[in-house]
Order: sequence, then structure tokens, then C-alpha cells
Amino acid sequence: MMDSQRRTWLIATGAATCVAGVATAVPFVESMEPSAKAKAEGGPIEVDISQLRPGEKMTILWRGQPVWFLRRTPQMLASLNITQSLVADPLSKRTQFPTPPWAQNQWRSIKPEYLVVVGICTHLGCSPVDRFTPGPQPSLPSDWQGGFLCPCHGSIFDLAARVFKNMPAPDNLVVPPYHYVNDRKILLGEHKA
Ligand code: FES
Repeated sequence: MMDSQRRTWLIATGAATCVAGVATAVPFVESMEPSAKAKAEGGPIEVDISQLRPGEKMTILWRGQPVWFLRRTPQMLASLNITQSLVADPLSKRTQFPTPPWAQNQWRSIKPEYLVVVGICTHLGCSPVDRFTPGPQPSLPSDWQGGFLCPCHGSIFDLAARVFKNMPAPDNLVVPPYHYVNDRKILLGEHKA
């Protein structure tokens, strides 16, 4: 399976050091470690995204929640045109799990290339799994374009973390506050226009 070969990074930023279940972990990257103060306070943290390669996802544990950073390839971005009519709320206008206005767009992010979302299903809180490889496979539609599958009750999300129509999950995955400090760094936990 392609997915299991992809590098997946998990960086623990809180007290929790839950690394179980990660198929492949690369050595801890020092520059991504937030300051001890930010850890203690659960305040905004700087995340270095410069080492993410196209198609790779990194997970940061922040305020006890997994936050995903996915660097989308042009093909991944193109898939959002196909899923546009298949998802329940293509422009993230629903209010149960509100999406910030600056992410109410097709790619649900500031820069199309990088998706930043909380990796917790809006149904009952399971963590969806990566299913980036397009094509037919178990538990997914035959015209699958790549995205995420929640193993608990089968909700599926596209590569902008938009939930498909008629799924148990009532909404898209949550976009946390963040902004770009520069091209290589994101400040997670605070949005600045
Ligand atoms: S918790 Fe994700 S579908 Fe139920």
C-alpha cells in the first residue's frame, strides 16, 4: 500500500507522547520542537514546515489534539475539483464546527499547498486515517480521489478534510487558528491577517 510507505511525522508537543500506530517515524526534528513555555501554556507554537515534501503529512500534538500539516501535490489539489460536488459543505459555511472565514475556500487553507486541520472526526471524535492513494479500495467509493477515512463509523473526507455527503460526521474537520510567519514556518494557535 502506498499509504504505509509514505513518511508520517508525529511530533509530540504536549505532555502526551502518543506515537503508537505511526508506521514510520523519522528522527525528531529539533527545529520543530516548541519552547517549553509554549508547551506548558498550550499557547501558539511555531511549526517548521520546510522539510515536508509534496504529498507528505506531519502531525503535531497541540493542546492534546493532533494537528495535521499536509503538503498537497498539484494532483491532490486537482482532486478537490472532482470532490467539490460530492462533499456536504464545499465552502465550509456550516456553523456546528465553524471554519474561519479565511479558510472558507475550496482548499480550506491560507495557501492551497498546505492543509492544516485538527485530525479529529466531527462525529464522535475518532482520528481519521490517511487514504491518499486514489482508486478503489476497501471502505471507500470506487472513484476515490484520495483523502481520509474515519475507521469508527466510516465517514470519509477529501484532501481538504471536507466530509462527503450523507456521512455520520456532521461537518468538515476543524481548521485551527494559524498564520504564516514566513514561507518555512507556521504559527499554530493564532491567526493574523
Ligand atoms: S467518529 Fe468518525 S465516523 Fe464516527
